[in-house]
Amino acid sequence: MKIGSVDLPSPFAIAPMAGMTDTAFRRLVKRHGGCGLVVTEMVSAEALARGIGRTLEYAEYTEEERPISIQIFGGDPVRMAAAAQIVEGMGADIVDVNMGCPVPKIAKHNAGCSLMREPAHAARVIAAMTKAVRIPVTVKMRAGWNDGERNAPTLAKMVEEAGAAAIAVHGRTAAQSYSGSADWDLVARIAGDLAIPVFGSGDCLEPEQIVERLASGVEGVLVGRGVLRNPWILAQAADLARGLRPRPVTLEDRGRFLLDYVELLMTERVREPRLRSVAELTELRRGKLEIAAPAFPAAARSHDRWVINKIRALGSWYTKGLDGGSNLRTAINSAQSLTELRELIGTFFLASATVA
Ligand SMILES: Cc1cc2nc3c(=O)[nH]c(=O)nc-3n(C[C@H](O)[C@H](O)[C@H](O)COP(=O)(O)O)c2cc1C
Repeated sequence: MKIGSVDLPSPFAIAPMAGMTDTAFRRLVKRHGGCGLVVTEMVSAEALARGIGRTLEYAEYTEEERPISIQIFGGDPVRMAAAAQIVEGMGADIVDVNMGCPVPKIAKHNAGCSLMREPAHAARVIAAMTKAVRIPVTVKMRAGWNDGERNAPTLAKMVEEAGAAAIAVHGRTAAQSYSGSADWDLVARIAGDLAIPVFGSGDCLEPEQIVERLASGVEGVLVGRGVLRNPWILAQAADLARGLRPRPVTLEDRGRFLLDYVELLMTERVREPRLRSVAELTELRRGKLEIAAPAFPAAARSHDRWVINKIRALGSWYTKGLDGGSNLRTAINSAQSLTELRELIGTFFLASATVA
């Protein structure tokens, strides 16, 4: 399938998840196969335009992740168009607009899901962006703001007319947050109404569900929490779609994934918090810029702490449903060093494995 001129090798994608789907995680998931598109964590359009270092890190990606979509949030058409140009300049394949975030901190700035409450304004944002860039502009929305305002079908049509190349719909309202269940009938109805590709999102925790949802009429499926629990889920869905048995995943595979994630976070993420420009970020991605290892013990310690926190964040999803998962979660949350964390992972996942 295609989004604009961008070819996607599979209709299954990693949904954007702030705090979770960093470049290291996306790469590891992508290496297992079955993943047609990755989307970054959401990035503030304002901060992008001002070149604020920490924010730029959310937009980091590597070549092996392509095709890559950078998701931005904001509400001002001129600034969103400027941010789209920056995203294009960074070499992303697609720029995605967040119209689904229910978090008040975002929504109160006329961004995220609050854009759904002003569909004409939201369409102006998309029109300004599509005029400003050549790469496809896509939109991720919810079913609506609340039960009284389930206007995704209307907004979807309006953003399509404004030039959006694809949309994704998480079939819950902002008011629902993550309660209840995603309304896939609504998503399928929108897919039937639009000429552009429509992705559905919500509640795919098993590979079978992903394949079933695809059959409901959408062009693609974005999987969020299911990937955090099981990073092989997209590859397993692709197996099923080809008529094969979903590949088995052993406890050892799961342990190695976590250890690989620690290693990637240690070596491949920028370590020193400092102001960086978009140009520098682009150089870094192309391998033309090296970021030195932390020069000071304090910087190394703070990087270790950051990695530990990332593993804790993933651990809260990754351990769900595992035998002894809740004990492991508690242990991960109290580990004080990376050595301790690696040992814990080794004992839980790899103790019975034959080491190659
Ligand atoms: C921890 C977390 C962070 C999320 N962050 C974003 C985000 O930055 N942008 C976005 O469009 N959606 C975000 N979402 C929503 C997901 O992309 C997805 O639409 C939603 O979780 C429903 O899919 P799922 O049931 O497969 O998780 C987030 C979801 C979670 C759980």
